[in-house]
Amino acid sequence: MEKDAICSLQQVSKHYKVKKGFFAGTTTKIKALDEVSLDIFRQEILGLVGESGCGKSTLARLILGLEKPTEGTIRFEGVDLSSLDARQLRKFRKRVQMVFQDPFSSLNPKKTIFQIISQPLKIHRICPKNQLRNEVKRLLHMAGLSNPGIENRYPHEFSGGQRQRIGIARALATRPDLVILDEPTSALDVSIQAQIINLILDLQESREITCLFISHDLPIVEFVSHRIAVMYRGTIVEIMPKKAFSLSAPNSAKSPHHPYTTFLIESIPVPDLQRQEDCQGGVIQSLNKEKPFEQTESERSEAACTFYDRCPQSREKCARISPSMIEVAKEHFIACHLFQTGQQRSDQPT
Ligand SMILES: Nc1ncnc2c1ncn2[C@@H]1O[C@H](COP(=O)(O)OP(=O)(O)OP(=O)(O)O)[C@@H](O)[C@H]1O
Ligand SMILES: [Mg+2]
Repeated sequence: MEKDAICSLQQVSKHYKVKKGFFAGTTTKIKALDEVSLDIFRQEILGLVGESGCGKSTLARLILGLEKPTEGTIRFEGVDLSSLDARQLRKFRKRVQMVFQDPFSSLNPKKTIFQIISQPLKIHRICPKNQLRNEVKRLLHMAGLSNPGIENRYPHEFSGGQRQRIGIARALATRPDLVILDEPTSALDVSIQAQIINLILDLQESREITCLFISHDLPIVEFVSHRIAVMYRGTIVEIMPKKAFSLSAPNSAKSPHHPYTTFLIESIPVPDLQRQEDCQGGVIQSLNKEKPFEQTESERSEAACTFYDRCPQSREKCARISPSMIEVAKEHFIACHLFQTGQQRSDQPT
């Protein structure tokens, strides 16, 4: 059966113009996203990983409709976001919500928790005025905050983990279908992280919502996600089911990966001496090695693979042609010339 995509991105690019220097009048273009195509399936948790600055939050802002793509189409339940009028956009905003990375700056310090959580309830006319307080209490209870009178307090009176719960309660207030969580646990200590992750999993299951879970923390992403997408410099280089990510699987049982995903996985610090030894001769070290094929920036084609510069296995073709996504196994896609359809991997780029 075909899976039903609640949100679908087709060839989405986002370019920003930035000044080259403080005094210079010239500008340069940053490709924050470059022809990204991605489906988010209904009721799944899709993990999104990639190094800092690769475009994860930009992708989130575009899906939320906070910014418009430079090129490409974003569809929510089949409807192109760029075609929505003001009334439809308001309806859409009710259905897609965001939990932000920083629980300290994402809550207005001058407002009480009641004011913060009741605001979306009022804007979207979700419940009658006389039931607002009960609804706020219900949402806080659902997020694990049920002390009496808690809704009358201000954000600074809460710990980081409690504030993140308040952020989750606020995001759930509009009964959204899609929630984007942009590094929701990175500002929290490990025990609170676990509580928030369990809360997200419980809520996702009980309320049947779809989540885009953005994080740098690969073990957490593997734990919560049904599928995982890997980004590198504004492009999606790999999309795979959870079982193919297999961080803890022994080497022999590991699925093949894009060289960047392998690099990410092998970069996770582990107190395992054997694995550390394995990595010495592996990708981490070879990323710094001289590449077999050198090309100057001016010779390099705009269409080169985004990972070409750092890839230990890059070849001449990788500098000229951007690889397309290939299905290497069921629901496992990799954009790399080393792979062919249905094949594990070939030594020479095809
Ligand atoms: N408004 C903007 N103007 C100019 N450049 C921007 C703007 N927003 C983002 N960028 C650039 O786009 C790129 C992607 O940024 P983005 O915030 O999406 O990265 P990210 O993957 O979320 O990083 P992090 O993991 O650090 O949060 C970066 O190079 C960033 O500098
Ligand atoms: Mg970000």
